[in-house]
Amino acid sequence: MPELDVAAAPRIKAEIRVPGDKSISHRAVILAAMSNGTCVIRGFLPSHDCLCTVWAMQSLGITIDHPEETTLVVHGQKGHFERPPHPIDCGNSGTLMRLLCGVLAGEPFESTLVGDASLSSRPMRRVIEPLTQMGASITATEPKGTAPLQVRGQPLHPIQYQLPVASAQVKSAILLAALRTPGKTVVTEPVATRDHTERMLDYFLVRTLREASDHGNVIAIYGDQTIESRDFTVPGDISSAAFWLVAAAAQPGSDLLVRDVGLNRTRTGILSVLLRMVAHIREVVEDWEQGEVRGEIRIQGSRLHGTVIGGAEIPNLIDEIPILAVAGALAEGKTVIKDAKELRVKETDRIAALVTNLGAMGVNVIERDDGMEIQGGSPLRAARVNSFGDHRIAMAFAVAGLFAKGNTVIEDTECIATSYPGFEDQLQKFLAPDRNEPTPVLNPVRSSKPSG
Ligand code: S3P
Repeated sequence: MPELDVAAAPRIKAEIRVPGDKSISHRAVILAAMSNGTCVIRGFLPSHDCLCTVWAMQSLGITIDHPEETTLVVHGQKGHFERPPHPIDCGNSGTLMRLLCGVLAGEPFESTLVGDASLSSRPMRRVIEPLTQMGASITATEPKGTAPLQVRGQPLHPIQYQLPVASAQVKSAILLAALRTPGKTVVTEPVATRDHTERMLDYFLVRTLREASDHGNVIAIYGDQTIESRDFTVPGDISSAAFWLVAAAAQPGSDLLVRDVGLNRTRTGILSVLLRMVAHIREVVEDWEQGEVRGEIRIQGSRLHGTVIGGAEIPNLIDEIPILAVAGALAEGKTVIKDAKELRVKETDRIAALVTNLGAMGVNVIERDDGMEIQGGSPLRAARVNSFGDHRIAMAFAVAGLFAKGNTVIEDTECIATSYPGFEDQLQKFLAPDRNEPTPVLNPVRSSKPSG
């Protein structure tokens, strides 16, 4: 099994770009496939997770050309799909499996969704329940409500649904099913989760009504609308940038500029947390023409301080908690992560994985049911740690290794390809700075609030 050997790194002084956003890439392919014509998607993330979405759409009869690694030409079929000839393999991707349930809920055929061992242990009742209320027939073949899933499409009717867990995947599955449902479907989320589906629906000229209420964010959508084909460019993934943002933030003297990255407010929770940890950050919004805010982030290294991460900000940084836990270990004082029980049902139990690996690197960490308490500031010890098959655990500990004396080995790093092809190359550039892109000459940055 491939492993990653990481030595302590010198200061990071670089200007970088990160690959396209994973959440947005999935949605762009799916909505383009449902649209009424040809869409060119640029900046697509060619990671295993997102390629599974391309293959899934192809097996449903959609023609997708792939002229360049990050460019797709998707020939939409106005929401018409063909019965797939074999089970659809969602790989490691919870987003794909849950969104596909929504897409297929109203299709007049039967399909089977399968995934790898990790995906096959993740909860699917949260998506089956609302789609069943809409009239779909979805069966989890395992007693615990996990994949393989048998989807028998049925005529759907609209529902009003209050999400019991804050999940953008479940919200999106309902919205996608609602596109094939006559009438008005309403979803209420208790706290704001990433709103890429809603923004992309707007961009593809599908009307949604959105408002805040006492019960949370309300999103209403009328079915039977035409999804107008349009070209779209995916911004860089802030969840991938997060690894380098922390690597730079925690090392005095570092200076990192990340260009062309998504700055959607439902995803930038990490910047708010790093500011509270007294990081020096500047964020510049450059463009929001295609519904998604994008721009650049500049970060300069300093001594970080511990903080408390919890409450309504959790969904806006849920995927960044592994690297924020590493930031907590590098910061002076205590960092508390709470209200994050969802981490237990991600690609692995991320709370358990983080506690194990931080402990192996000599960090004093206490596991809680919904998070952990990290006593930061002591030197990290180089160690041999495992990814637990989870891309974000692998990358978070590669960054931790940059701060440990000696060599840190991360075992089982194949999983990195699910979200960040090119991560290892970027890491090598930071380890051998001669090969870095030219050092940017920029004015100093102070701790400042994110703009917008
Ligand atoms: C995602 C939503 C989040 C996130 C996942 C991607 C999405 O999951 O953790 O990596 O693209 O909608 P949940 O919806 O389960 O919170």
